[in-house]
Amino acid sequence: MQQDPRPSPASASARATSRVLVLLAHPDLRHSRVNRRLLSACESARAPLLERGVTLDLRDLYTLYPDYAIDVATEQAAAGRADWIVWMHPIQWYAMPALMKLWLDEVLTVGWAYGRRGGEGRALEGKDLWLVASTGASEASYHPGGYNRHFFDAFLPPYEQTAALCGMRFLPPLVLHGARAATAAELDDHVRVFADRLLTHPHWPELADLATCDACDVPDTDRPAPRQEVDRAS
Ligand SMILES: Cc1cc2nc3c(=O)[nH]c(=O)nc-3n(C[C@H](O)[C@H](O)[C@H](O)COP(=O)(O)O)c2cc1C
Repeated sequence: MQQDPRPSPASASARATSRVLVLLAHPDLRHSRVNRRLLSACESARAPLLERGVTLDLRDLYTLYPDYAIDVATEQAAAGRADWIVWMHPIQWYAMPALMKLWLDEVLTVGWAYGRRGGEGRALEGKDLWLVASTGASEASYHPGGYNRHFFDAFLPPYEQTAALCGMRFLPPLVLHGARAATAAELDDHVRVFADRLLTHPHWPELADLATCDACDVPDTDRPAPRQEVDRAS
């Protein structure tokens, strides 16, 4: 009998050398047009990624934590073992949905995600962070002359600086504007670009000159106080 030349998922998984973590945060996925398609693109990319030696971890935050009770240890373990991380969500009120923000608040702790240079807090250093977002508003509206009054990039510094604080390289985001008005062909194109990026990272032409980011040095005076200190002081 002829052998199937393709690697079996089990043998490919044993050879996997890198890992991508996709964190999806959509509060109402059943009614999603864009992010639901991106989610299935992730599922479809799983096997081809594995053949390239990449394991995909997909964490759908609103399904995992409908009560917002994030399991911090599990999330830190997932983020810590990933080589690169994708944040995938619709833009809500010019920012990330609430549970994605809570993920940052609770998972990116001092001494784990950030801290003193050369000290502890290096868990994410050297990883890439890729934002994949969608907006309801058109690209034209994100303009000084449009009703959103700013270019879309003006809403990105909190993401970029969060990455920098943790020593992560912030990759050029992939954004689909005008999610509801986008044609089926535009949506297909977006999903195709997303899947292609997922499969080809880090060999994207625009990353050739993108420098890595050194983690920022956060002095002790600027860190959150340990809980007991706050309790004693009050
Ligand atoms: C509570 C809420 C706030 C939103 N805020 C914005 C916003 O600030 N800017 C914008 O362009 N779209 C906004 N939208 C539209 C969503 O970004 C858009 O519906 C979504 O990206 C479409 O993706 P989906 O098809 O996966 O749901 C908002 C939607 C909701 C429900």
